[in-house]
Amino acid sequence: MCGIVGYIGKDDGTEICLKGLKRLEYRGYDSAGMAVVDNQEIKSIKVKGRVAALEEKQKNNPLKGSLVIAHTRWATHGVPSEENAHPHFDCHKQFAIVHNGIIENYASLKRWLEEKGHKFTSQTDTEVIPHLIEDYYEGDLVATVQKVLSLVEGTYGLAIISAKEPDKMVAARCGSPLILGICDNGDYIVASDPTAVVEYTRKVVYLNDREVVVLNHGSYQIFTLDNKEVERETSEIAWDLAQIEKGGFPHFMLKEIFNQPDTVSNAMRGRIILSENRVKLGGLIDYLDSLAKSERIVFVACGTSWHAGLIAEYLFENLASLPTEVEYASEFRYKGSIVNTDTPYFVISQSGETADTLESLRKVKSAGGKVFGIVNVVGSTIARETDAGIYLHAGPEIGVASTKAFTSQVTVLSLLALYLAKARGKMSDEDMQARLNSVLALPKIIEKILKNADSIKNIAERYIKYNNFLYLGRGYNFPVALEGALKLKEISYIHAEGYPAAEMKHGPIALIDQNMPVVVVATDTEDIIYQKVMSNIEEVRARGGNIIAIATEGNEDIKNFATEVIYVPKTAGFISPIVNVIPLQLLSYYMAAARGCDIDKPRNLAKSVTVE
Ligand code: F6R
Repeated sequence: MCGIVGYIGKDDGTEICLKGLKRLEYRGYDSAGMAVVDNQEIKSIKVKGRVAALEEKQKNNPLKGSLVIAHTRWATHGVPSEENAHPHFDCHKQFAIVHNGIIENYASLKRWLEEKGHKFTSQTDTEVIPHLIEDYYEGDLVATVQKVLSLVEGTYGLAIISAKEPDKMVAARCGSPLILGICDNGDYIVASDPTAVVEYTRKVVYLNDREVVVLNHGSYQIFTLDNKEVERETSEIAWDLAQIEKGGFPHFMLKEIFNQPDTVSNAMRGRIILSENRVKLGGLIDYLDSLAKSERIVFVACGTSWHAGLIAEYLFENLASLPTEVEYASEFRYKGSIVNTDTPYFVISQSGETADTLESLRKVKSAGGKVFGIVNVVGSTIARETDAGIYLHAGPEIGVASTKAFTSQVTVLSLLALYLAKARGKMSDEDMQARLNSVLALPKIIEKILKNADSIKNIAERYIKYNNFLYLGRGYNFPVALEGALKLKEISYIHAEGYPAAEMKHGPIALIDQNMPVVVVATDTEDIIYQKVMSNIEEVRARGGNIIAIATEGNEDIKNFATEVIYVPKTAGFISPIVNVIPLQLLSYYMAAARGCDIDKPRNLAKSVTVE
């Protein structure tokens, strides 16, 4: 959480940094700030609120400088306020820092510094760093930063400038992402992710943990904390500016929902060899045999990615008869789980930076296990630290609520399940052919649902006055119910619970009345559980509850039971989550829009959860 940008170059870099902050605002947006070195002096502006407010302040009283750092905040330590906004300074404003992460031992360091006479002006953990630098500084900023970072515990992606060395920026990372953009004209931009630099360059360097990059005008060097120089190749950002703009949509979330015919295509492109009746997964090529022979698979993830993992559990067990477990990363990393080195572990992460998922990965690796990644962001920490994996190729996901990444995750996991089913001798050629064809049909089916968006909007607008929703689904669509409920909660602030449909009787049914609409995924009419889901619908109806049913086209009968019906084209059960989640994404989007919520920046949330 939090986004940082820094610029060192020939011109004034304040506009580049402000633009960068806007692109990083999905990482946090409760306060913002910027500092420059101007005439051997650090000057700064800060606001409580959005980057737009910082921009306003900059217009009224402009900072200028060719050495700039800037920050957009998601509060961890200290309320959102101007005092707690970054940059933070030492006592004499000679050093300025922007920081993403948490300094865990800040309290003891702060006590020690206060005893030595340092005066703190914020409640943040970050502020210990400039004071430590002030305390240890003996004329060499780089050496001092290296020394100070060896004293702090926790996570950081940070950038530091100093009035004492006005031609230099020092940036460093440990556990929070940081990249360096190298512009053709010799300017450098450091940022939390490539979206802040892609307008100026596609040439980037990914920093590793406990590395420090020293930027001078026209040159840079990377060092470890113990001052060993590191050679690092540059990488190319594989997407362009258009992908991080709204492209005529009112919100990134809507754009990303409407992108899904393409992103699902990209997730399967080159991975289905229909003529040979097989799935090809290049990223896992060296491990596919051992994966097929394994006796158990474990998925580890958070949030929406965890829901994709739950669907994988059904896919792997139903199609490949492969026992599968799914763990919340935040639980897995701390519980006494025994890492079995014969078990392949998969981490699923859109951003590739989620702190709990990353630490779970490290836990398995340090116990000698193998970890594979299902990741969207190329070059992210998780992508780099896993043994191998499958990229989603969904392009940047900017909307805080994950949509296109989820359908890409489930597409990729479906392909992996099919691969393993075949390799384990659990699927006939005929069955395989039919299933591959249903995966290939997905983009067209999604397009058809999106054409129906207006009717989903109408339904959404009729339901905005309700404060509680229940979402029900079974089998492959139980995780879809969880995902639908999560989408509604996070962007419209309406309370929603997802449940396996048959569990309703074991408690939640007590809540049902005319004020509790129930969204039921009731597709898969040929599945034995369909009739059971219909019984659940009856139970809701008998208690006066309104039902919004997601049903298969042609199922006229369901109109007799449900208050509203959203039809989706018929598809095979194993990929039905990819289809059924689309109307639920739209339902939550349109409800949030009708309630006037800030859809791309929902309160209290941030896209990339890089703190635990
Ligand atoms: C919900 C959402 C979050 C993320 C979760 C994991 O819409 O976006 O629940 O899914 O924070 O993030 P990644 O996938 O980046 O590890």
